[in-house]
Amino acid sequence: MSLDAFLSELGQLTTDATAAFSAAADTESLESARVEFLGAKSGQLKTVQKGLGTVDKADKPLAGKSFNETKQKVEAAFEEAGSRLAGSAIRQEAADFDPTEPGRRTRIGHAHPITQTIEELKDIFGRLGFNVVEGPEIEDEWHNFEALNIPRSHPARDPLENFYLATATRHSDSPLLLRSQTSTVQIRVMENTPPPVRIVSLGRVYRPDTADATHYPMFHQIEGLLVDKQVTMADLKSVLRMLCSSYLGEDVHVRFRTSFFPFTEPSVEVDMSWHGGWIEMGGAGMVDPNVLRAVGYDPDEVIGFAFGLGVERLCARRHAVRDIREFYKNDARFLHQF
Ligand code: FA5
Repeated sequence: MSLDAFLSELGQLTTDATAAFSAAADTESLESARVEFLGAKSGQLKTVQKGLGTVDKADKPLAGKSFNETKQKVEAAFEEAGSRLAGSAIRQEAADFDPTEPGRRTRIGHAHPITQTIEELKDIFGRLGFNVVEGPEIEDEWHNFEALNIPRSHPARDPLENFYLATATRHSDSPLLLRSQTSTVQIRVMENTPPPVRIVSLGRVYRPDTADATHYPMFHQIEGLLVDKQVTMADLKSVLRMLCSSYLGEDVHVRFRTSFFPFTEPSVEVDMSWHGGWIEMGGAGMVDPNVLRAVGYDPDEVIGFAFGLGVERLCARRHAVRDIREFYKNDARFLHQF
């Protein structure tokens, strides 16, 4: 091949490649132009390079130099087109950015609905002058049963009705169990405090109950205890009414049904109705004289009332949750609604 022919091929290649690169409107068309002209296997530059071997020996140095210059020019044109496209992408992004749009809110966590309910109930009872106290979740039989006037023969003490701890026995004759009710805290408070007493205690309790819409094997109770010189069932009802109307609304109905608990006499079941049918919320009554005696109080001197309500049921009613199992499924879509 003559030098002139080779140089004219180089000139044509430079013109075509530069035109193709600068015409590329997006990265895809720039890439196909790159393959066409600079492709390592069959790009046009590669094809022209093959002609270099056929140029006369005397003309080779000039032809080689011209080839290198052309290669640099074509590569520079490609780089320039690349920068042009990158710049326009940034400009496009800047044009799309609307500084007046509201920002994207980061989702942060919050307290579980049952925890929120517990905090709210503590607030309500704080306003009514009740102190909040805590008790242990692992209990002995004295606090869970005996001091509460629940004799050994009572069905509530059946091992199948409780979570006894098989190995953790504090005294050889007193097995330990997960408390089945917060009434244990009544005993712990009275053992350590002279009357008058006005406390609430909120916490977890455990029973081997089958889970359903209103039962769970681990749940929360709010226990209340008021002991003083003159206390009546009317005071009990007023306090529970105030609790329900503060937590749910003035239009709540509270109903007492006669019942039996070994640690209260008389005893009642407390039902509530609010925006729906009646639901059992807990038990209550006047503290049994045997309980007062067990903690060293004199039943001729003091008298009291006590109540224990289910926190899950209160929370479920307030938020129209039909199944308390929802609280423990850990479904963030459910929990984020509270
Ligand atoms: C008691 O636990 C008594 N200690 C209440 C009491 C306290 C009576 C003080 C008198 C004086 P009961 O077993 O009925 O009572 O439970 C009270 C409430 O806890 C029930 O009404 C219900 O609201 C709730 N509850 C009981 N079992 C479950 C369960 N498995 N899951 C969810 N809530 C429950």
